[in-house]
Amino acid sequence: MLAAGEGTRMRSATPKVLHAIGGRTLVEHVLRAVSGADIAIVVGPDHGAVAKMAQAIVPKAQIFEQSKRLGTAHAVLAAKKAIARGADDILVMFADTPLIRPATLAQLRAALADGASVAVLGFRPADPSGYGRLVMRGSDLIAIREERDASAEERAIDFCNGGLMALSGDRALAILERIGNANAKGEYYLTDAVAIARDMGLKAVAIETGEDDVRGINTKAQLAQAEAVLQSRLRAAALDAGVTMIAPETVFLSADTKFGSDVTIEPNVVFGPGVTVEDGALIRSFSHLEGANVGKGARVGPFARLRPGAKLGKDVHIGNFVEIKEATIEAGAKANHLAYIGDARVGAGANIGAGTITCNYDGVAKHRTDIGAGAFIGSNSSLVAPVKIGDGAYVGSGSVVTKDVPAGALALGRAKQAIKEGWAKRLRQTKALGTKAARKGGKALAAKKKTPK
Ligand code: UD1
Ligand code: MG
Repeated sequence: MLAAGEGTRMRSATPKVLHAIGGRTLVEHVLRAVSGADIAIVVGPDHGAVAKMAQAIVPKAQIFEQSKRLGTAHAVLAAKKAIARGADDILVMFADTPLIRPATLAQLRAALADGASVAVLGFRPADPSGYGRLVMRGSDLIAIREERDASAEERAIDFCNGGLMALSGDRALAILERIGNANAKGEYYLTDAVAIARDMGLKAVAIETGEDDVRGINTKAQLAQAEAVLQSRLRAAALDAGVTMIAPETVFLSADTKFGSDVTIEPNVVFGPGVTVEDGALIRSFSHLEGANVGKGARVGPFARLRPGAKLGKDVHIGNFVEIKEATIEAGAKANHLAYIGDARVGAGANIGAGTITCNYDGVAKHRTDIGAGAFIGSNSSLVAPVKIGDGAYVGSGSVVTKDVPAGALALGRAKQAIKEGWAKRLRQTKALGTKAARKGGKALAAKKKTPK
């Protein structure tokens, strides 16, 4: 897998292949497309982050460094040791071509099994400029000509090289080591493998595929185009699996979003990485979910935010402007309006009133809030963690709870209400006097400030 590109045109401090589509880095998409294979990755100098990311996904991936960028064949040979170890098939993948599908790779391998020593992916882009052209004779691939080296006649060919290549394992090294750099760019072109294989009396073929499969990413605009293609694939897969979406084109999914049966998603919902939605759940409009689990029959939103570690049990209701982070909400519990539940457990059937806040952060560390089953948290309460509310306990509205509340108890943590009979009437009279005095030019200010007892 070639990942040594600089990615200058991304105009970013992040290496190109660590940019993401569908919540997954480009290199991870490609690694998943070849899952099960022995992986060798060729990275550029100072690309430790790429190596680290790749090994986080495939711990056994071998890392090779291409210290000078002398062309695609030179990059492949940076991993010579891995190729020399022997394999049935060698696939040369580009880490910046994330939409390649396993089924397409299987076609390439099938061509090798059919007797070809080299197989490439051909496609017919609307605009072929910049791509290598596939020179065919009947069904045989004769050569690949890079645009700079192509004759006018060759440039007129609209069948282009997708970039990736499959080589039969027993011939790969012999072919690759013959590649020179006598061309317009002075680079070692992987594409020369085709003509070399032919010279050796071996067969080369091109498998035609759609442009999306081989869509490479060099710019942020291409990153966004690839995202759009991936989103439509993910939406189609979700619809196929039975998810109901009223306006699928407004729903953004991650490559790892998981849905149970009979899930409904209203328009304008965003799924970041790591979300599972179980059977029968409803996700209402304008909700944002990431790293969250939505249990069977739960309802989320509209305008809800589930952050990493949010685990909603069966039939939980999370309503508008409620944020849940690193918290387990057990079966049937409800937080229907305007709340923040972080670093907490909310027991089964508990009710979290509007405006409830778990004060989980003291400026230094995070602390947990534990709310028992069937507890009732009155509106606009602050639960200052660490704190425990026992099963079935009540917290009066507007309380600031700093001490544990025993099961079944009532906690009131607010100023006592005072009643002053007739006070409003007295206030209005005093103010009216003040205004009269002002008109007469008397001691207006003093009278105005006076409030009744
Ligand atoms: C390559 C093909 C071209 C094809 C096109 C499809 C060659 C010579 N040309 O051209 O026929 O139509 O892809 O997109 O292969 N890389 C390295 N080290 C290097 C050079 C490249 O790791 O020294 C990596 C790049 O990071 C990239 C991949 O190899 O992932 C392809 O290189 P790139 O420069 O994009 O090749 P193209 O000119 O696009
Ligand atoms: Mg390219």
